Amino acid sequence: MLAVNRISKSYPTPRGPLTVLSEVSFSLAPGDAAAIMGPSGSGKSSLLYILGGLEPPSSGTVTLDGRNPFELDPDALAAFRNRSIGFVFQDHCLLPQCTVLENVLVPTLVAPARGDADRARALLDRVGLSDRSDHRPAELSGGERQRVALARSLAPRPRLLLLDEPLANLDISSEQGIVSVLARLARAEGIAVLLSAHDMNPLMPVMDRIVYVAAGRVAVGTADEVVQPEVLSGLYGQHVDVIRVHGRVLVVAAPEGIDAAEAAAEDLGVIR
Ligand SMILES: Nc1ncnc2c1ncn2[C@@H]1O[C@H](COP(=O)(O)OP(=O)(O)OP(=O)(O)O)[C@@H](O)[C@H]1O
Ligand SMILES: [Mg+2]
Repeated sequence: MLAVNRISKSYPTPRGPLTVLSEVSFSLAPGDAAAIMGPSGSGKSSLLYILGGLEPPSSGTVTLDGRNPFELDPDALAAFRNRSIGFVFQDHCLLPQCTVLENVLVPTLVAPARGDADRARALLDRVGLSDRSDHRPAELSGGERQRVALARSLAPRPRLLLLDEPLANLDISSEQGIVSVLARLARAEGIAVLLSAHDMNPLMPVMDRIVYVAAGRVAVGTADEVVQPEVLSGLYGQHVDVIRVHGRVLVVAAPEGIDAAEAAAEDLGVIR
């Protein structure tokens, strides 16, 4: 359904172009829930923004159901208007003066249709907030706001749902709640879900696939296939250990002369 073909992305900097993604390719099928993992600055948000049509790739193509999702309208917001791609931003972007239900209905205001309100209520039920529909965002916890943003992104029935760090700033039980809601929604709605995250541990048991980004390259597969020392060492271009301890996975790279755990915490951002 989603095909990412040899996407590269460079940003201009005073010291010359900075290449963050180099010939990245992968695909997702309807019902797939996949996580983009990787160290800070590896290009997770850049990849999501390219897929969402919010940032152009330097080269390469994205197709959704066989065609360029943005070709009908060169305007980057076309993706939202043609309702094929949903995007959940890290800071939720809820309208503070509107109720929860009104926030979920916002995307449908572009082209309102009969049944929008019923669907909005059904989505709030699905994310466990049906009893909060008349509340305002200020009355909700961070995790609850995240779930409103999730319901809102689904209101236009997207084919592909992109979420940038939906687990940031959530406690473990809210993390698990969001992750399981997402995996269930992907299957129930037949959409592909792709989210970025720093910590792979809450995601590994639930995600169908991991898209691991490092040093401009990606490795794609199940968690068991990708989170392996040989695969990640190849990606990073240096020796990487995968340590399984107390039911958690730690990815540890040790540049020469630096304590391994310290390096992992600083460079990889996967240890908390
Ligand atoms: N508009 C831009 N102009 C120049 N450089 C940029 C721009 N956007 C991102 N970058 C750089 O590209 C690299 C990748 O950034 P990106 O935000 O995609 O990483 P990330 O994996 O999402 O990081 P994090 O885990 O911290 O969110 C970083 O070095 C960043 O500074
Ligand atoms: Mg990011």
